[in-house]
Amino acid sequence: MKAIILLGPPGSGKGSVAEVLTDDGYIHISTGELLRQQIRQGTEIGKKAASLMDQGVFVPDEMVVGMIRDVLENATPDQCFLFDGFPRTRIQAEKFDELIHQMNVDLTAVILLNCPDQVIVDRLGGRRTCPTCGAVYHLTHVPPQKEGLCDQDGATLVARPDDAPETVQARLDVYAKQTEPLIGFYQEKGLIRPVNSALPIDEVRANVLLELAK
Ligand code: AP5
Repeated sequence: MKAIILLGPPGSGKGSVAEVLTDDGYIHISTGELLRQQIRQGTEIGKKAASLMDQGVFVPDEMVVGMIRDVLENATPDQCFLFDGFPRTRIQAEKFDELIHQMNVDLTAVILLNCPDQVIVDRLGGRRTCPTCGAVYHLTHVPPQKEGLCDQDGATLVARPDDAPETVQARLDVYAKQTEPLIGFYQEKGLIRPVNSALPIDEVRANVLLELAK
């Protein structure tokens, strides 16, 4: 099994970059999306996660580590995973190290998407997502063909509750405090590949593919 990690602040474009890597055979695992699925299904995990996510703070480490353990336990040796939004804390990174060691997973790169806060605030303010298939749009940068409707399935697009301006600032603060230190953690392992994600989306995607091809 192989894995790569997409690391970067909220709104840096992790989900948008992941869309093209799935075309390259990667299996996209977004812990944020897994948690939103649990919320939609009304599970116990979803009930615990909902209010934390709405406030822009992290859910407990053991909750997300458990979800990732399930993914890896059900995987086959030929699969290649793209982790988006995991790990996000030092504890998660250490637990992930243990898991990949036990399960013989080769972590080959950590793509770091760098993006200034003012760009992020604009992106998240204009983000719209499809509640049915999860497709991601932006009112001006990535508009759907028909205003307000998903190109894939015609569902009415919605704004994420945690994209409210005050929550975006809370998420940026949490990222700086809890996730940014992971850059050093993975730098020491020689895995960090920085990419400027403040460029147009096609350029960012192309640069990520170039980094992975090195
Ligand atoms: P999650 O869903 O992972 O949110 P996030 O990390 O905050 O990231 P986003 O999904 O907001 O942004 P993104 O980087 O994917 O950007 P996108 O491609 O959408 O997590 C949500 C919550 O779940 C967390 O706050 C936490 O509570 C919880 N959680 C999740 N994982 C957890 C974990 N491991 N531990 C604990 N808690 C966890 O792009 C954003 C917008 O910009 C879009 O509109 C897009 O169209 C546009 N855009 C993207 N790239 C470009 C570009 N280059 N140019 C122009 N527009 C662009």
